[in-house]
Amino acid sequence: MTESTKYLLSEDRLPKAWYNLAADLPVPLPPPLNPGTLKPLVADDLAPIFPRAVIEQEMSAERWIDIPEPVREVYRLWRPSPLIRARRLERALDTPAHIYFKYEGVSPAGSHKPNTSVPQAFYNQQEGVKKLATETGAGQWGCSLAFAGSLFGLEVQVFMVKVSFNQKPYRRALMETYGATCIPSPSPLTEAGRAILARDPESNGSLGIAISEAVEVAIAHDDTKYALGSVLNHVCLHQTVIGEEALLQMEMAGDEPDVVIACTGGGSNFAGLAFPYIREKIKGRSIRIVGVEPHSCPTLTKGRYAYDFGDTAKLTPLMKMHTLGATFMPPGSHSGGLRYHGMSPMVSHVKELGLMEARSYHQTECFAAALQFARNEGIVPAPESSHAVKAAIDEALLAKAEGKARTILFNLSGHGHFDMQAYTDYLAGKLKDRVFDDSLLDEALADLPVID
Ligand SMILES: Cc1ncc(COP(=O)(O)O)c(C=O)c1O
Repeated sequence: MTESTKYLLSEDRLPKAWYNLAADLPVPLPPPLNPGTLKPLVADDLAPIFPRAVIEQEMSAERWIDIPEPVREVYRLWRPSPLIRARRLERALDTPAHIYFKYEGVSPAGSHKPNTSVPQAFYNQQEGVKKLATETGAGQWGCSLAFAGSLFGLEVQVFMVKVSFNQKPYRRALMETYGATCIPSPSPLTEAGRAILARDPESNGSLGIAISEAVEVAIAHDDTKYALGSVLNHVCLHQTVIGEEALLQMEMAGDEPDVVIACTGGGSNFAGLAFPYIREKIKGRSIRIVGVEPHSCPTLTKGRYAYDFGDTAKLTPLMKMHTLGATFMPPGSHSGGLRYHGMSPMVSHVKELGLMEARSYHQTECFAAALQFARNEGIVPAPESSHAVKAAIDEALLAKAEGKARTILFNLSGHGHFDMQAYTDYLAGKLKDRVFDDSLLDEALADLPVID
């Protein structure tokens, strides 16, 4: 019998519910705070920016939340996504490890992000919203919301971090193809953008600034809401279709992961794959869970676990999370989607509880791993996803050195077809690893809000 490479679920096995880890956490998540009163947030605090259904999910402690049928219908355009055994990479590494990856690059936008943009657009449309404002780092989220907006008849305005806007013109073209508008951030269109430009006209922008611009637009217009592509509980929730499918597919493969790996920007693709496995870990299954971040923006490995704002202009609620400080400006890198000063509060909490570990890598070692992956498996990873590829390869090499079998599962969160400039620069030897400047971190952390 030939050995299987792909483990495919039929459409009728697409999960019917998202999994909410909040229901199983051994210690409850510290609540987000209203920045004015410093009291736990109530649903009304979020009403100017999110639709009611999304706010309910954000605050829910229900274990399972039904996926509405119109959302499942759209998911079926590309889901269930394949689980692939990287047999050729295993052979190239000459490792006894089994390496599996869940491939989210099969979505129309090329990453995991439509798993949440589609339900977010659906709930907004149901509640009569006409327009969504959002930020995007690498452009994956902006394209994903543009795609979802086009399906549900919503206007979409995207503030794209300027460094990525300049690096990736085709991401903007894709957003416009789906009918959205895309503006480099910081922009002169908002107070938050104008304030940054007055201080630094050459600002590269950051996710924190772009979030401030989009939130400001949503607050200023009654028919407009805001949509976030990562970080928050409802986003992590929507992404759990990845892990729920993976559990079924690993069963088909007759294997169980010893280690589950994903890259972490705001935490959503990590949460998507890992939270269902963390549920199993809490129940007693022995499994390691690893989040991987860039050395240049080391939120989980060097950030402080503290209440902080989600954006630079300090418009959002305060969230307890690993943070480099809301004013921290990560150096420009080719993993735009990982350049965020904070981390999902739920992922941060999981780290504090010792249910996961975190590590960081430099970008050039991630590109080297991505090339090795592409030359064996054919798929060109998004630079963000290459962090997970690098960690998976390191785990496989460790298994080899120890002479131990090990089953590795990682999330290949997206393809890199719009990131070829990054690959061109890497191949030309032009990519530099940034030295992390601890003094800038100290400065940004000194600015953290003081909460008794
Ligand atoms: C392909 C890809 N992977 C990962 C990320 C990081 O985001 P998150 O941590 O929310 O999954 C991004 C963000 O833009 C992305 O585009």
